[in-house]
Amino acid sequence: MSLDIVILAAGQGTRMRSALPKVLHPVAGKSMLGHVIDSARQLQPQSIQVVIGHGAEIVRERLAADDLSFVLQAQQLGTGHAVAQALPKLSAENVLILYGDVPLIEVDTLQRLLQQVSAEQLGLLTVDLNDPTGYGRIVRDDKGVVKAIVEHKDATPEQRAICEGNTGILAVPGKRLADWLGRLSNNNAQGEYYLTDVIAMAVADGLVVATEQPLDAMEVQGANDRMQLAELERHYQKRAARQLMAQGVTLRDPARFDVRGEVTVGRDVLIDINVILEGRVLIEDNVEIGPNCVIKNSTLRKGAVVKANSHLDGVELGEGSDAGPFARLRPGSVLGAKAHVGNFVELKNAVLGEGAKAGHLSYLGDAEVGARTNIGAGTITCNYDGANKFKTVMGEDVFIGSNSALVAPVTLGDGSTTGAGSVITADVPANTLAVGRAKQRNIEDWKRPQKIRK
Ligand code: UD1
Ligand code: CA
Repeated sequence: MSLDIVILAAGQGTRMRSALPKVLHPVAGKSMLGHVIDSARQLQPQSIQVVIGHGAEIVRERLAADDLSFVLQAQQLGTGHAVAQALPKLSAENVLILYGDVPLIEVDTLQRLLQQVSAEQLGLLTVDLNDPTGYGRIVRDDKGVVKAIVEHKDATPEQRAICEGNTGILAVPGKRLADWLGRLSNNNAQGEYYLTDVIAMAVADGLVVATEQPLDAMEVQGANDRMQLAELERHYQKRAARQLMAQGVTLRDPARFDVRGEVTVGRDVLIDINVILEGRVLIEDNVEIGPNCVIKNSTLRKGAVVKANSHLDGVELGEGSDAGPFARLRPGSVLGAKAHVGNFVELKNAVLGEGAKAGHLSYLGDAEVGARTNIGAGTITCNYDGANKFKTVMGEDVFIGSNSALVAPVTLGDGSTTGAGSVITADVPANTLAVGRAKQRNIEDWKRPQKIRK
């Protein structure tokens, strides 16, 4: 069965008190609308129509993609009016309506709902609520057959006692939609064209309204303010933590762990508290991540260890290598197997060979470091002359004395050594010692200055 999906995202979201359109507020690092679009994609529809209004330009700009079509609803006259704006672009047998501010809806739930829709039947997603205030109520007859949805503001006291609420998510046969939407009126408590009035019209036309419910009510929870946004965030994170634990990860505290992207994990991974994983992160077996680390778009090979308070972005850590505490590894950095980077070391576009070490207080940028090379504390690659960047190449088994400044472009051959405090401006041949510092003078009987009495 062919499918068009309409995502309503034109509302203002006044209660967010934000310059940013509501649907662009992020959950787990991705806009709410982005989550809905990604779920919609998994249903492989023939089109995805996003109805935009408030902040239309910025929403379009942020989310533009080949498989999305944006429809402008210049004035927000109601959910029925919003869907009507997309009508000219709809041609599939079935149409599914989603909401840009309801980000946690599960694909499985939508698939169940879509199994209900046909030429003679609508699929309506409902939810049982302890406090249904504000929701449209599902009105059933005494046999339990759905007859209508009545909005809270239009409902009688008896109808308000109904605890089955409308989630808004709905699957309808496409052919009928134009007729029903064309017959909507705004003669109601809010003066809006209600999409929900379509239910009673469908019933009058002899169609059946079949209902489904989400497994978890949070799936259909919208975010109207920042408190609700935070609740969605926590729910998302708990779910992500549970999934990782099920795959063999020990989380020291699942409540103090955040994923903002896609994480692939091996077994027996240990993650301490306050770790944030962002973008695409691959973590192989037996990796350990210490507390307070941020790891973004990185690959951690088997047995790699990231110690406390380290920040990794665009990095690969080889098997059995380790970094931190307080390591800052920037894009393009690679640690070979068993390589070691210690505290207050910054790497940028630096590749360390197997077993290479930079234990303390260094900046290595645009550098290639051979296997087993040892870089002393305080070593800096001077990779930037204020205009251009240059490369530093160190061979294998090099020993860089502490506080060396390696002025790029420069190459240090295999087995070479630099004296501590050297400024290395010329290439160093293999197996050679380079000393580039002022020679020490000792001045005998030196008198220190005396304090002047006033
Ligand atoms: C709607 C439903 C209600 C349901 C509730 C669930 C209607 C008439 N009512 O009520 O039955 O229980 O959602 O949360 O459908 N939007 C537009 N253009 C518009 C109006 C709304 O794009 O002209 C979008 C909003 O941005 C929002 C969504 O549609 O994402 C729902 O609109 P909202 O005004 O919040 O509807 P509710 O009054 O909550
Ligand atoms: Ca709402």
